[in-house]
Amino acid sequence: MCKKLTYKNILFLGDITGRLGRSVVRDLLEIIKNKNFKSKEIVELDADLEVLKNIDFYMANCENASGGFGLTKKNYEDLCDFGLQALTGGNHIWDKSEIYNYIHNATNIVCPINSSNKLPGLREQFFNIENYKLAVLSVLGRTFMPPVNSFWEILPEKIEKIKKVTPNILIDFHAEATAEKVCFARWASDMEVSCVLGTHTHVQTADEQIINNKTAYITDVGFCGAKNSIIGMDYESSYKKLSLGIASKNSVVKKGTALANGVIVTINMETGCAIKISRLKFIKKYNIEDNNMNKES
Ligand SMILES: [Fe+2]
Ligand SMILES: [Fe+2]
Repeated sequence: MCKKLTYKNILFLGDITGRLGRSVVRDLLEIIKNKNFKSKEIVELDADLEVLKNIDFYMANCENASGGFGLTKKNYEDLCDFGLQALTGGNHIWDKSEIYNYIHNATNIVCPINSSNKLPGLREQFFNIENYKLAVLSVLGRTFMPPVNSFWEILPEKIEKIKKVTPNILIDFHAEATAEKVCFARWASDMEVSCVLGTHTHVQTADEQIINNKTAYITDVGFCGAKNSIIGMDYESSYKKLSLGIASKNSVVKKGTALANGVIVTINMETGCAIKISRLKFIKKYNIEDNNMNKES
């Protein structure tokens, strides 16, 4: 299929969760880059293969990549080595204390714009896709979430400034409440943002759409991690925490069937208009713990 040169395909993967999440993302990216879609290792690959063969830019949410909470330096470097070019944060992005030491040099990570400015990390970043620029923002929701600054007040001025540089703007809207996500997307679309991709709930929704002939939207992209789990965590600890209402440390599931959820968005980079969004699901089994993956977390 002939592809217009001004159209670029962006793969965005949902919250990478723990070692199993890192393993499945590594293997999915290898399959995509080698166009090895008939590999016997694939249990399921549900995606638009025509666009999957032509990905121009790879990104993911990384807030849970190390043991389910935060991101170590080693794991940041691993995710970049796998081929991820941009990584968005979320409410857990600062959970591993070592991030305070390395984030100043971690130019692929974009942290939430409406969290306290006393926390380190870039709040916006421009990435090159051939001759075009893609601005990436991470925004935290405020409904059923820890308190953060009002994105309603911060974003309009910020987006106007970005539009002087590029019409291509992708926002990871990291939020819990569906109504807040849908309303945010409509509001951001009126400001001519190219993509609003929801994260945080770890469950993929089936409402992908183009709003106003401009903005690619999905309420939640889903996640990358253990398929048979409670959003990446083991059943026993989740049950104890939820049924008894007491603090119980969730532990991330490290082996078994892994799922990678994502979306592929096609943007006309001349206009900043998204023209297509489609969902991706990839499943692979890891019956023993992946010894090639570092065991830090
Ligand atoms: Fe998450
Ligand atoms: Fe989150």
